Amino acid sequence: MNILLLGSGGREHALAWKIDKSPLCSKLFIAPGNAGTQFCGTNVKIDIADFDAIAAFVEKNSVKMVVVGPEDPLVNGITDFLSNHEKTKDVMVIGPSAEGARLEGSKEFAKEFMQRYKIPTAAYKSFSIETFEEGVDFLETLKPPYVLKADGLAAGKGVVIVNSLDGAIDALKNMLKGKAFGKASEKVVIEEFLQGIELSVFVATDGKSWVLLPEAKDYKRIGEGDTGPNTGGMGAVSPVPFADTVFMEKVKTRVIQPTIDGLQKEGIRYEGFVFLGLMNVAGEPYVIEYNVRMGDPETEAVIPRLNSDLVEMLQHMAKGTLEQYIPEVCPEFAVTVMLVSGGYPGAYEKGLEMVRWDSINDSYLFFAGATSDGDTIKTSGGRVLAITSMHSQMDKAIAMSMHNAEKVQFQHKFYRKDIGKDLQN
Ligand code: AMP
Ligand code: GLY
Repeated sequence: MNILLLGSGGREHALAWKIDKSPLCSKLFIAPGNAGTQFCGTNVKIDIADFDAIAAFVEKNSVKMVVVGPEDPLVNGITDFLSNHEKTKDVMVIGPSAEGARLEGSKEFAKEFMQRYKIPTAAYKSFSIETFEEGVDFLETLKPPYVLKADGLAAGKGVVIVNSLDGAIDALKNMLKGKAFGKASEKVVIEEFLQGIELSVFVATDGKSWVLLPEAKDYKRIGEGDTGPNTGGMGAVSPVPFADTVFMEKVKTRVIQPTIDGLQKEGIRYEGFVFLGLMNVAGEPYVIEYNVRMGDPETEAVIPRLNSDLVEMLQHMAKGTLEQYIPEVCPEFAVTVMLVSGGYPGAYEKGLEMVRWDSINDSYLFFAGATSDGDTIKTSGGRVLAITSMHSQMDKAIAMSMHNAEKVQFQHKFYRKDIGKDLQN
């Protein structure tokens, strides 16, 4: 079958690489794709916000499956659009309905959902400009640090954590009155601070059954030792040693099963991925956030560990037969190091040539913000290249990724040298 994958990040390169290996895939198209996805299929210049253009492409190219990488099209209803469109209604779409995507698109919706199904999460209240003063009163009842979240999608920047009460009140004012995140911060969720270690858990579901994919740890801050501003993610490790059987059993019974049951009970169509951002608080899982897609850069560590056919799994997700699929997972460690443009997550230069990437043969290279210009690959984004190495020993996988991160060159390259170090021993 012909498959269309939407997106252009390292996540999409990893997905494209795996989809292309499947005997079930005839032609793979990636819209818009990047320098890496061109090695797995055909990049097509479509704006993924243009649903009419996507539907027209699907029809013209006999696409039978659309895999949605990022959250924006899902929150904006791509799944419903294609399923309701006369020409594309029979196409399998991997990604939830707009209603399901609200788990990521609205923090308030996600919080209310978790409350309804008694899924462990930080205590919270939600405020709007009309209830600003009540928000200030609520902050006064909390202990620092204070966590404030813009309700809507804010490109990963909508969470503010501050230590002082004055700072928290200022942040609330900025978000509600100053519209710091535009429409996304018309509502703000204020919640209790959770102290613990974070974990990304990935679930594939057909809306009734679900399968657990390998978990991963993401390194969000730009600086070593988890310092400096937040980024999209500077690296990932899978498996995560502290995600042991006892902890994962709690995740399954207290978080995953009630989530899928809740979606089903509410009649929400969900044939896609649930990415749980969890905090391990003294051995107990709490949900920090739901995402309705795979993580980036976690996918670059998770997908290479999946030995079984990804397209077969996607097909079961779309057809409602996921109970028949058992994923086969490689027990080795996958360690992903992200090379970024100097200056990221602030301003950075683009269009810089990358060299020596083609001399690497003992790691997987998943391109992100990189475009191909004839024979040369040039930087085009903040996160440029994910380097994933696999080994039965975590320290060996780390060493391979670090070695190759040093080898690939582009001007102002930066990467964290401490990925995975906190998980050793
Ligand atoms: P998010 O954009 O929802 O992933 O949040 C960004 C980061 O803020 C998370 O990865 C956590 O590190 C942190 N965070 C969010 N909510 C909380 C919380 N309730 N307690 C502690 N840290 C949090
Ligand atoms: N790496 C975190 C995310 O994809 O949201």
